[in-house]
Amino acid sequence: MLQILNTLHSYNRWIMLALMITALIFAWRGRFSSNRDSQIKLQTKLNLFTLIFTDLQLTLGLLLYAFFSPVTAQGFSNMKMAMKDPVIRFYTVEHIFTGILVVVFVHLAKILFKKKSDTLKKFNSAAISLSIAFLFLLVTIPWPWRAAGRALFP
Ligand code: HEM
Repeated sequence: MLQILNTLHSYNRWIMLALMITALIFAWRGRFSSNRDSQIKLQTKLNLFTLIFTDLQLTLGLLLYAFFSPVTAQGFSNMKMAMKDPVIRFYTVEHIFTGILVVVFVHLAKILFKKKSDTLKKFNSAAISLSIAFLFLLVTIPWPWRAAGRALFP
């Protein structure tokens, strides 16, 4: 089960990256476009799909975190020791914290895009929220060159 969840969680990161980059490019394009109305439908879809795959990542992550990861289990068994080990600290504290911030800003992008009545404000808020989410996404991913790094394609 650990293997399956880990593999899904790892590959879903690429889907999230692709969707988020597309959504944020289109949001910024809309922000500076003079013909925003025609782009609302597409942006709504991009926001939705980014959110679906982000929430899927959160679900997989929570399952790993709470039930299946030997790394977080080790962390929970001795928090003091976990704080001193960069790999255990990363998965027990830093990864979940920055991962949840990604989720928050992706949700914010979708909510604000729907709520704002002015089209400029719609695209502006989505572009900013998605850009912040993207930065946290880059921070939360355990890239192979980091201390807690994992393979790009396990
Ligand atoms: C939302 C953005 C997130 C991304 C892009 C992401 C990405 C990743 C990647 C690429 C791995 C390495 C998988 C591997 O090849 O072994 C990983 C591991 C892990 N993630 Fe996430 N993650 C995210 C959010 C979360 C959240 C919110 C949690 C917890 C609730 C979480 C819990 C974990 C755990 C526990 C592991 C380590 C599992 C193990 O090897 O024991 N992730 N994550």
